[in-house]
Amino acid sequence: MNVLLIGSGGRESALAWKISQSPMLGKMYAAPGNPGIVDYAQNLDIKVSDFDGIVNAIKEYSIDLVVVGPEVPLIDGLTDRIMSEKGFKIPLVCGPKADGAQLEGSKDFAKQFMMRHNIPTAKYKTFNADTYNDAVEFMKTLKAPYVLKADGPAAGKGVIIENDFEVACKELKEMFGGKFGKSSAEVVIEEFLSGIELSVFVLTDGRGGYVILPEAKDYKRIGENDEGLNTGGMGSVSPVPFADKEFMDKVESRIIRPTINGLLRDNIDYKGFIFFGLINVENDPYVIEYNVRMGDPETESVMLRIKSDLLDLIASAAGGCLAGKSCEFDERTAATVMLVSGGYPEAYEKGKEIKGTADVKNCQVFHAGTKIKDGKLVTDGGRVITVSTLGDDINSALATALEDANKITFDGAYHRRDIGKDLLKYVK
Ligand code: AMP
Ligand code: GLY
Repeated sequence: MNVLLIGSGGRESALAWKISQSPMLGKMYAAPGNPGIVDYAQNLDIKVSDFDGIVNAIKEYSIDLVVVGPEVPLIDGLTDRIMSEKGFKIPLVCGPKADGAQLEGSKDFAKQFMMRHNIPTAKYKTFNADTYNDAVEFMKTLKAPYVLKADGPAAGKGVIIENDFEVACKELKEMFGGKFGKSSAEVVIEEFLSGIELSVFVLTDGRGGYVILPEAKDYKRIGENDEGLNTGGMGSVSPVPFADKEFMDKVESRIIRPTINGLLRDNIDYKGFIFFGLINVENDPYVIEYNVRMGDPETESVMLRIKSDLLDLIASAAGGCLAGKSCEFDERTAATVMLVSGGYPEAYEKGKEIKGTADVKNCQVFHAGTKIKDGKLVTDGGRVITVSTLGDDINSALATALEDANKITFDGAYHRRDIGKDLLKYVK
């Protein structure tokens, strides 16, 4: 089976690594891929937004399965485009059409979906500039902090959590005034939930079949002890110690199954990954958000713990035949540490030479923002490269990851040293 993987980040590097282990794989291509992905796939110089280029590549390379990594092409209708193409054998596609991708593309859509299907989530209402006064009245019924979410995609930046009522009102006005462009023309205001977050992933086949993948926790703040600015993610661990059988049974019965059944009932043909961003409030799970893709850097840890043939599971999801399949987990603990550019998530420089990747012996290295320039590997983004490993527990996995992270050097390189440490108190 020939595979085309769409994307170029750490998530896609980890997916490529795992897919490459499958005996079902013929040849793998990545659009556009990155310098780490070349170990597993042939990179094609095609942007994820270039739907014509992607369709041409599907024809040229006789692609049987397209695996879409990031959400934006899904929200923009890449799957619909491939499915409606004439004059060639349409490949299987892992990734929902634009209707299903609205679960991530519109917070209001996701909230309405959860209400319709009785899926636990924070109380909310949606407002626009014309209903500003009603929004202020609604906020008065909520306790601080106030959670304001731009309805549309805002590259992970569209959520404001503000303690002060007056400041929240001002923020809301700015959102309606275009703070996040069109994405904040509508704003979801919701109740603040207090608890600890985790990421749960499933693959589903559009016919009610699904498999649950290993869960993970990611670390979003730049600083240790979760201080400082939000980032795309500084590391992850899997499993999550508080997500024991009792908790995961609640997740499956209250959230996963109602979501899968809700998609069927709403006639949404959803084939692909669903990422449930959950919060544990006194041992009860609530949905904070849906994403229509895998998480990054959760994927880098999750892939290490999957013992089953991932390509078989993905192809079965995309082919509508997951029933009877399951995913076998490695019982050990995976930890991922992300190396980022100095200054990130604010201004940073690119083009710094990266050394030492060949010295990493006990971890998988997954490239995120790297490129080859004049024959050298250099930084090409804020999140640059990850090291991921398995260990007997959080402490040992983290120790190995940190040891190897220290071997990779570039001017300004930074990483957190406390990934997973907050979870030690939940270990039984
Ligand atoms: P989202 O983009 O919806 O995932 O929101 C970004 C982050 O804001 C989440 O990962 C949470 O940490 C936080 N957050 C969002 N909604 C809530 C909520 N209702 N209560 C508490 N924290 C929230
Ligand atoms: N790690 C969170 C995300 O991928 O959105």
